[in-house]
Amino acid sequence: MVFSIHKVGVVGAGQMGCGIAHVCALSGYDVVLNDVDGEKLGESLETIRGNLGRQVTRGLVTDEQRNEALNRIALAPSLADFADVDLAIETAVEDEAEKRAIFSALCKVLRPDAIIASNSSSISITRLASSTDRPEQFIGIHFMNPVPLMQLVELVRGIATGEKTFEAARGFVARIGKTATVAEDFPAFIVNRILLPMINEAIYTLYEGVGTVDSIDTAMKLGANHPMGPLQLADFIGLDTCLHIMQVLHDGLADSKYRPCPLLVKYVEAGWLGRKTDRGFYDYRGEKPVPTR
Ligand SMILES: NC(=O)c1ccc[n+]([C@@H]2O[C@H](COP(=O)([O-])OP(=O)(O)OC[C@H]3O[C@@H](n4cnc5c(N)ncnc54)[C@H](O)[C@@H]3O)[C@@H](O)[C@H]2O)c1
Repeated sequence: MVFSIHKVGVVGAGQMGCGIAHVCALSGYDVVLNDVDGEKLGESLETIRGNLGRQVTRGLVTDEQRNEALNRIALAPSLADFADVDLAIETAVEDEAEKRAIFSALCKVLRPDAIIASNSSSISITRLASSTDRPEQFIGIHFMNPVPLMQLVELVRGIATGEKTFEAARGFVARIGKTATVAEDFPAFIVNRILLPMINEAIYTLYEGVGTVDSIDTAMKLGANHPMGPLQLADFIGLDTCLHIMQVLHDGLADSKYRPCPLLVKYVEAGWLGRKTDRGFYDYRGEKPVPTR
């Protein structure tokens, strides 16, 4: 029998956590949303309300569906509120130690049959699963950003992930209206294994003075027909997340071709993390984005 999911807990109310809570609530799941940062958690419902509002304006969602979805989301300042969830999705910072600490806290409150998923962009699902009390009930459910718009979800089985867990995750992805693709548990899975080295190369192209931010993004939009330039996309993903993924690729595959560009490191050290901090390869503080190089 397929394990049935009614209530979803989301750990991390950043750009991905808000998106995941949004699509789950819109698909009829009850949701509890947690963040370690009280301010972030406080803002999350307004972010989701604004994003749902845009869908209402475009005629994709009715007023009633928006209101019902918002009513299904409860903010949870503590993980104690996860005691009755069927599926807990961790989507906090892309840092293995942080994620392990979250799983260890989660295992203390979750029901024994609850499934744990990580939205990690790159970290080994097998390794993350081994830090829990239920590796067979642990799986990678990797959403794309922005979650309400992007169709794909990568499902990643760790070595111990059970078939029941995999089928429950597959059913969950279908119910939220997304398309699942299955990736093996190798660093950065499929999408980011291909995408992030391209973004890193764009940053090297900038670092070596081959082009400016504007010329690199224009070149890839008009020359390769990408909907967004790679530096614009890096700002959108978050430069800290981009750096973490490159570090996972570099460490995990031990190939110098994955070396994070020093300019990416410098931007992250400056706290210029892209759109979420209002500055990255573009400065977003004015009326329209201005390249920072
Ligand atoms: N940004 C993307 O394009 C993208 C796409 C797919 C997957 N991901 C993955 O999703 C995860 C989150 O990325 P994001 O872009 O939403 O980052 P973000 O910086 O927008 O949000 C992360 C949130 O996690 C919170 N957090 C940190 N530690 C926590 C803890 N111990 N407990 C609870 N909350 C905690 C932070 O306060 C923050 O609100 C990362 O693992 C990332 O790799 C990101």
